Amino acid sequence: MFDVVVIGSGPAGYVAAIKASQLGLKTLCIEESTDIKGNANFGGTCLNVGCIPSKALLDSSHRYYEASKNLGEHGIDIGQLKLDLSSMMKRKDNIVNKLTSGINGLFSTNKVESCSGRGKIVSANTVEITKNDGTVELIETKNIIIATGSKPIEISSAPFGENTVDSTGALSFKKVPKTLGVVGAGIIGLELGSVWSRLGSKVTVIEALDDFLPMADKDISKDSFKEFKKQGLDIQLSSKVTKSSEHKDYVSVSYDHQGKEIEKKFEKLIVAVGRYPNSSEVISDELNISIDKGFIKVNEFCQTSVPNIWAVGDVVRGPMLAHKGSEEGVMVAERIAKKHAQVNYDLVPSVIYSHPEIAWVGKNEQELKLQKIDYKVGKFPFAASGRALAVDQSVGFVKVLSHKKTDTILGVHVFGPAAAEIVQQALISMEFGASSEDISLTMFSHPTVSEAFHEAALASNNQAIHIGNKR
Ligand code: FAD
Ligand code: NAI
Repeated sequence: MFDVVVIGSGPAGYVAAIKASQLGLKTLCIEESTDIKGNANFGGTCLNVGCIPSKALLDSSHRYYEASKNLGEHGIDIGQLKLDLSSMMKRKDNIVNKLTSGINGLFSTNKVESCSGRGKIVSANTVEITKNDGTVELIETKNIIIATGSKPIEISSAPFGENTVDSTGALSFKKVPKTLGVVGAGIIGLELGSVWSRLGSKVTVIEALDDFLPMADKDISKDSFKEFKKQGLDIQLSSKVTKSSEHKDYVSVSYDHQGKEIEKKFEKLIVAVGRYPNSSEVISDELNISIDKGFIKVNEFCQTSVPNIWAVGDVVRGPMLAHKGSEEGVMVAERIAKKHAQVNYDLVPSVIYSHPEIAWVGKNEQELKLQKIDYKVGKFPFAASGRALAVDQSVGFVKVLSHKKTDTILGVHVFGPAAAEIVQQALISMEFGASSEDISLTMFSHPTVSEAFHEAALASNNQAIHIGNKR
């Protein structure tokens, strides 16, 4: 009898399993995905086909782009530049293999038992495992954590095919497509669109909504839209794909743009219109656990209506982000071990790893207006930051939103260098209930791009040193 069986080994599942075992609970983690040798392939979407390989390619493509475009003014001439895509892909694959196999090591040092197969909950205390050879095993357990993740959404107007791919296909093109269409100007569309654009593809992004990045603060949406266009991404808003057809060497796509039918041909098409939770065939219907649009229904502690069955990560409500899933995994393991634990859903950071990066935490201006919260704005442009100028990254800004009366920081939004790291500093301060004055009174190293956060906090109270203040 196990104390905990975890179904799925992505960042929500493997972290939950390790934490549970660290807390003295006898834990098993089941993973259905296998490597070429037929062994369980741990790490889920994040390590195999998500966060890590996409960031590896973003870094490689950025280096290539910098070398091809921006070294001249530094007085560096490297002559003829050549792209070796297969080496770039090999580097990415090596990083993925290192991390996924590392989970085997983490499981063994933390005494987590693991097994390869597909898990299904057949009763409140029984998980059925269907092995790859078709054999079935029943496992008894006191608690179950569902961490089965999500998969790319397929749309009927542009079904996947030889040249129409999801994010996984877009991480392993064999050659740089001359023309690339991307359906969806969301996070994947922008990150992977940027990768291939930097490597030479002519990229068109087809987005159904009228607004660009509606979930971001309006200043970020506005400025980053201009910057993406400048970098060569042709972003078509208010454009809904109506049909597509696969051909040997290209895909033909039709989309409706403000009542006008437009047809374009692309060598490859990436469809990135969101992800759908993996919840079908995971729980026996007899348990009566509600599923809403694919998401397993849970309370704030990730507990389903059956008290010893929990669900974490992409398969439950909230943003589909690795760090959110991992924190839920830790919380659930601790609650099973009868500890007090919770996740602060108000402070989940978001990052888009474009160049410059986009990151935020807390509320944006639109949300504060809607909720009728009185706020003040402190903004500092990277164009006024010595370090940003020195490192050639002076596009963008830091924006601090604080409560008008209490001065408590309500949201921090960054478009620019090291945005993710700056937002992380802000988030730590917000966890401790910081005010913009607290940040103003904190010493920042010079020269760093983080000084822009300091200056934006000062600007909230009209005290910025390196820009003009309202008088
Ligand atoms: P998953 O990582 O999807 O893992 C679920 C696991 O469960 C899988 O291994 C699956 O095989 C297994 N499984 C499913 N059903 C069963 C079953 N019945 N039995 C056994 N095993 C099963 N997030 C970020 O925070 N930062 C990023 O930079 C980022 N970049 C991304 C880039 C891309 C291209 C993509 C696609 C996603 C990215 N994400 C990023 C999102 C992130 O990958 C997910 O939010 C995260 O992986 C979700 O973790 P999870 O553990 O809930 O699920
Ligand atoms: P997304 O939800 O971020 O964006 C999808 C976009 O497609 C939206 O703008 C939507 O309006 C548009 N869309 C939907 N249907 C459409 C249609 N028929 N035609 C045209 N446009 C359409 O989803 P995406 O990019 O697929 O990413 C999925 C999730 O993966 C993200 O929401 C995020 O949670 C996670 N992710 C996180 C990353 C990070 O943290 N840096 C990186 C990549 C993914």
